[in-house]
Amino acid sequence: MERWRAHALRVGIEGADVGTPVTVIVPTFNERDNVAELVARSAAALAGYDAEILFVDDSTDDTASEVERVAADAAIPVRVIHRAENTGGLGGAVVVGLEAAAADICIVMDGDLQHPPELLPVLMARHGEGDADVVAASRYVGGGDTSGLGTAVRFGVSRVATWLTRAMFPIRLARSTDPMTGFFLVDRRRLDLSVLKPQGFKILLEILARNDLRIAEVPMEFAERRHGTSKASLRQGATFIAHLARLRFGKMSLFALIGAIGAAANLGIMWALTASGVPYIWAAVIGAEVTIIGNFLLQERFVFADMRTDARALGIRFASSFAFNNVEAALRIPVMALMVESWHISSVLATGLSLIVAFFARFLFHSLVVYAPQRRKRNGDSPAAEPPTDTAAQRVIRAIDVEVMKPGEL
Ligand code: GDD
Ligand code: MN
Repeated sequence: MERWRAHALRVGIEGADVGTPVTVIVPTFNERDNVAELVARSAAALAGYDAEILFVDDSTDDTASEVERVAADAAIPVRVIHRAENTGGLGGAVVVGLEAAAADICIVMDGDLQHPPELLPVLMARHGEGDADVVAASRYVGGGDTSGLGTAVRFGVSRVATWLTRAMFPIRLARSTDPMTGFFLVDRRRLDLSVLKPQGFKILLEILARNDLRIAEVPMEFAERRHGTSKASLRQGATFIAHLARLRFGKMSLFALIGAIGAAANLGIMWALTASGVPYIWAAVIGAEVTIIGNFLLQERFVFADMRTDARALGIRFASSFAFNNVEAALRIPVMALMVESWHISSVLATGLSLIVAFFARFLFHSLVVYAPQRRKRNGDSPAAEPPTDTAAQRVIRAIDVEVMKPGEL
């Protein structure tokens, strides 16, 4: 418990950000018994600040009326929004809070006191340093602590999920050791709330993945839950995996789906043609070309629709896509033969590997070349803000990250 205090002194709580209005957003689901203590400790921690507490409640118990009772003699303004319908779960509640907050600086904090309210001014002070849009309270930076996570299993799952997530978003999460934390400050003005599609618990991840934000962290000790029970569940785990896949592979999964439909169509066409007497070489050529054209049209319509206006003309897009797919189809067989010959692997394995490589090559070529925005990096919008010290390789990786991040849900 002493460590956050030491940190608080280090970052200099006094002064820095006291004049900035702040809204503390607290999502609640049946947290009645925690409300009074949470309000008292938060109000004490934020004494001197222009602060409010905004509960966004989906409870089936009387948490909302308990908030109103406590609000009546609280030291700072306390409001509650009780949602008629629980859309998007915890994440949905946070977005409602961000929309309704009186202040632009918002701090999201759990309602069960696992997030020590004493850290509120520490988050404010860190934000006051002026170099971050998001300040997250991390369980994994120096001085952070995860003891409150409970069982070893829960701890392991949490670590693996964090590691997996960071590996999947190597650029956006480069400065975030704990993208799953539910305790963070965010400057609402830096966010496009309309792009958020909250789903379950991982609202910070949603915010970081869909917005290009500067992240800072402070260590936190994740405490034991005070009263009531956790709403984390296997179902939340599954929601999380789906959320990750949707965020990370939005465009790519649609691209893959269309590719798979194309492959099936290709086989169907070949079968129909050979059955009606067309020589199989011709059947293969016709099947391949029809599929390449069909895939292009579907991808134009469904995968890259949002990128068409900034890309080159339709004719050029088609020509480059058509050329790439033909070269790729022509090269795949000899490359496979080479793999079988020189690596002595089975032809089935070689086919599998070549298809995987071809898939990624095709996806990258289409997002980075065929649909490349023509005004990119010239018109001063965010990609141009890259530091000039980036190497060519870093720029390519960054560009891939940006492309793959474009939303394109199934
Ligand atoms: N409004 C609303 N609606 N609030 C909800 C809902 C919901 O559907 N589900 C949960 N909450 C509230 C809880 O009442 C609590 O205040 C907070 O969200 C966190 O829920 P817990 O049930 O306490 O979850 P946890 O302790 O397992 O998870 C916490 O730690 C995770 C990291 O391990 C949260 O902070 C997560 O965001 C975080 O990822
Ligand atoms: Mn909790």
